[in-house]
Amino acid sequence: MTISLKRGAFPNTRLRRMRANDFSRRLMQENQLGVNDLIYPMFVCEGSGDRQTISSMPGIERLSIDLMAKEAKLLASLGIPAIALFPVVGAEKKSLFAEEAYNPNGLAQDAIKAIKDAAPELGVITDVALDPYTTHGQDGIIDDKGYVLNDRTTETLCMQAEAQANAGADIVAPSDMMDGRIGAIRSTLENAGHINTCILSYAAKYASAYYGPFRDAVGSAGNLKGGNKYTYQMDPANSNEALHECALDLAEGADMIMVKPGMPYLDIVRRVKDELAVPTYAYQVSGEYAMHCAAFENGWLDKNAVMMESLLAFKRAGADGILTYFAKDVALLLNN
Ligand code: PBG
Repeated sequence: MTISLKRGAFPNTRLRRMRANDFSRRLMQENQLGVNDLIYPMFVCEGSGDRQTISSMPGIERLSIDLMAKEAKLLASLGIPAIALFPVVGAEKKSLFAEEAYNPNGLAQDAIKAIKDAAPELGVITDVALDPYTTHGQDGIIDDKGYVLNDRTTETLCMQAEAQANAGADIVAPSDMMDGRIGAIRSTLENAGHINTCILSYAAKYASAYYGPFRDAVGSAGNLKGGNKYTYQMDPANSNEALHECALDLAEGADMIMVKPGMPYLDIVRRVKDELAVPTYAYQVSGEYAMHCAAFENGWLDKNAVMMESLLAFKRAGADGILTYFAKDVALLLNN
């Protein structure tokens, strides 16, 4: 018996035609992930010849400056455009006013110099926030009730950003969420002659529980204890507020905008890109990395495939680049 379908019972449009062959699948691909999209976050620790594992972030280490300089050369040779630097200082360097943040010979500043010496072509992005340097783990200076003081904190952030730029940072990245700090930092940098030092503003930074492993990595988790950052980081419930934040920071002189965390906030990336049309970045944060790693280690997900898919999603959402702890793995994979 032959089955004959009447004309008109066929679909006119068969989207599967274009999916039938590898060449046509490649031709119609709308987004691509490349090495140029990657920013690698790195943790620098004191000492020399030291590398420390971080239990909640498999494959990521705290490196002393000498080892970090070597690693920087490798990253540059892989074609990774930039790294984001996070210092991990000893308890004796932490204080209520975070003076260590602007020490010209502090750990972060020395690391910047060493990386720029070792791999001048590698962009260095520095974190502007006081949490690595405060005894209480908050991003700013607190009053006697524990409230983070906006304008007092901003003064210190300006000194920190200037110290980083003096040391050779290419991009300073305020992740503290104080009001008005982008404008203040911009004028500090201009006055100091750093007219070409870019500002990447963590404008849409949410008060997220996904930062847990990072706080372990920088050793601020214990200090923060039961504390939280709700009075300055954004409520995960909000979306319009993110656009408001971004618009203000751009008006104050931000060159680039960061959305953070990443995967749970790709709707925000899309809105920022569509409505503001500026260089837009997103951070696949430590908790996102940790949960992927847990599934990979259990054999529940295929590492390479899921890693690439997760990052392609950022591109599809409109991100121009992605901060990700997978950056080195991805670059190795793309380089073959
Ligand atoms: C703090 C800072 C945080 C991260 C980067 N900078 C954590 C926080 O706000 O407590 C998190 C990054 C990550 O989770 O990977 N200035």
